[in-house]
Amino acid sequence: MKTTISQIGNHVGEKVTIGAWLANKRSSGKIAFLQLRDGTGFIQGVLVKAEVGEDAFAQAKEITQESSLFVTGIVREDDRAPSGYELTVTGVELINDSKDYPITPKEHGTEFLMDHRHLWLRSKRQHAIMRVRNEIIRATYEFFHKEGFVKVDPPILTGSSAEGTTNLFHTKYFDEDAYLSQSGQLYMEAAAMALGKVFSFGPTFRAEKSKTRRHLIEFWMIEPEMAFMDHDESLEVQENYVSYVIQSVLENCKLELKALERDVSKLENIKAPFPRITYDDAIAFLQKEGHEIEWGEDFGAPHETAIAKEYDKPVFITHYPASIKAFYMKPDPNREEVVLCADLIAPEGYGEIIGGSQRIDDEALLQKRYKEHQLSEDAYKWYMDLRTYGSVPHSGFGLGLERTVGWICGTEHVRETIPFPRLLNRLYP
Ligand code: 4AD
Ligand code: MG
Repeated sequence: MKTTISQIGNHVGEKVTIGAWLANKRSSGKIAFLQLRDGTGFIQGVLVKAEVGEDAFAQAKEITQESSLFVTGIVREDDRAPSGYELTVTGVELINDSKDYPITPKEHGTEFLMDHRHLWLRSKRQHAIMRVRNEIIRATYEFFHKEGFVKVDPPILTGSSAEGTTNLFHTKYFDEDAYLSQSGQLYMEAAAMALGKVFSFGPTFRAEKSKTRRHLIEFWMIEPEMAFMDHDESLEVQENYVSYVIQSVLENCKLELKALERDVSKLENIKAPFPRITYDDAIAFLQKEGHEIEWGEDFGAPHETAIAKEYDKPVFITHYPASIKAFYMKPDPNREEVVLCADLIAPEGYGEIIGGSQRIDDEALLQKRYKEHQLSEDAYKWYMDLRTYGSVPHSGFGLGLERTVGWICGTEHVRETIPFPRLLNRLYP
């Protein structure tokens, strides 16, 4: 019967057939080991010459890397195998012969691998990362649905910007100017006024000329927005959400985390609540540590890493100066120069994974901000309407999927966390 590697444990002692690719092989005169992968997982097929016969054995030894096959064999339990099973092969049918597969088992440089990203995805490590990414997405939908959120899809083509105008991708929308969305937030605020608690999951675009291990040009964001919720309540949702995602990955991606050689002890205690420090205290701490930074400046990667080092859980940095944050953030009623916001900084140097805030709900104040930020009243008229017609306190946040994948998988660079990364100077493949 036909099955997949992930389901093979249901067939111990039975003869099964799997469709697979040859990832790697080694052999002696009498026995051949085929490393097989089928997308659902990896398994070793063992071919014994004395059992399959001279011809079949000789043919199997000739199979080249990444050739596609139907492999038939008997499923055995094997404690030494990462998956727990092995296949005693009785027959191999070649589907397609792969010639000179470029990604051989030896080491390759990053640029070479990036040029072959369409093939690199097949390798064990990339396979594991994509599956962890999938689990994070699955757990995200599960968490927000359990919590009573409604999934809403904001537009990708927009006429206005959410996060400032300096890094927008411009395009034409027939005769009008349009931009690729940097964040669905403003639309999610409208959705929250219609549906209460909402979340989005979609691609966002930033024409940032930054070449760091944390920046993508195109990345995916999860953006919840909640009517009648203040800043502190939003932080609770955030820490519960991140904890839920981590615990789901630990539970459902054991093989993947093993393949990635991830130190899971660092993830196991990621459980709410998370520590919180104010921007003021973070600045004081950094100055004490010898960093050259003044109140009013934004943090760079080394600052975030230094702060994160102090904790073994993600840490919220709250109450940033209004001057370095977006126009829509609500000022602290006790201190106008700071806003009710927080960035969540992941441990182990992975940096900011969430940016969020309580939003301005006062129409007059929002009008003042439009003027200060020189925002077009026409383009943002609809956003003002949300304050004119039944404004309520509301909060929301955005979690960057790729940085979260990077942290959970322990990758060195965000390029490995998305199937086809869009980076500065990279649009291929
Ligand atoms: O902090 P950001 O810019 O916040 C917003 O866009 C808000 N409108 C979200 C909201 O409140 N609904 O981005 C949110 C997160 C960051 O914390 C980071 O994880 C990720 O998005 N991010 C990036 N990830 C990869 N590459 C980039 N260039 C990123 N820019 C932001
Ligand atoms: Mg941010």
